[in-house]
Amino acid sequence: MNDMTRQGAVDPPYLYPGYRSTTLRSPLEPLVELAQGAFDVPGPLVPKSFVRDQDNDLTMHGKSAPLGEKMILTGRLVDEAERPIRHSLVEIWQANASGRYHHPGDQHDAPLDPNFTGIGRTFTDADGWYRFVTIKPGAYPWQNHPFAWRPNHIHFSLLGNAPVQRLITQMYFPGDPLLPIDPVFNSVPDETARARMVSTLVLETGIEGIALGYRFDIVLAGAKSNPMGL
Ligand SMILES: [Fe+2]
Repeated sequence: MNDMTRQGAVDPPYLYPGYRSTTLRSPLEPLVELAQGAFDVPGPLVPKSFVRDQDNDLTMHGKSAPLGEKMILTGRLVDEAERPIRHSLVEIWQANASGRYHHPGDQHDAPLDPNFTGIGRTFTDADGWYRFVTIKPGAYPWQNHPFAWRPNHIHFSLLGNAPVQRLITQMYFPGDPLLPIDPVFNSVPDETARARMVSTLVLETGIEGIALGYRFDIVLAGAKSNPMGL
């Protein structure tokens, strides 16, 4: 399965005019249906060496700690029957605490943090759990419409067992006042599905006195799946 075939009740439409870039990237022709099982072909597995020690700790990539509110992000990757997706690649990318990406395309007038690249990766364990150490990303302005700001969010890429199965989504933070007016978040039509993109504050999964804990479970298929394709 990939994100061109998965679109269903919980995923956003390819074209959502309020989210301007979808008018450029959405398909203009009807999709070509592929044979059942076309994505089940065996492909190369992601080698274990692709993920290095500390790739899941985004606070360890510079000479010293990045600025921002330190957080532990944990969650479980499961299928529609809540079975764990084991030893599967989970990648994240995010803005720094000031809301700027470590990328030449981001010219937002906010400081870069030399100690933060905003890229992390890990494999889920035998029970489907992943864990990242990072900082809370800042909100940032974008060009979608006047006074447009993206809510705080972390991008996720899930690779399944082969590159053709890649799914992407975004994780948000509870209580963010920008969520009700964000076209990306609201391109997901169903309210309960939107709620599944919002992480939960779980202090006990943080580190006492050091880092806040947020939990974000990801369901890949079925009626309770997380919206994908954002
Ligand atoms: Fe973003």
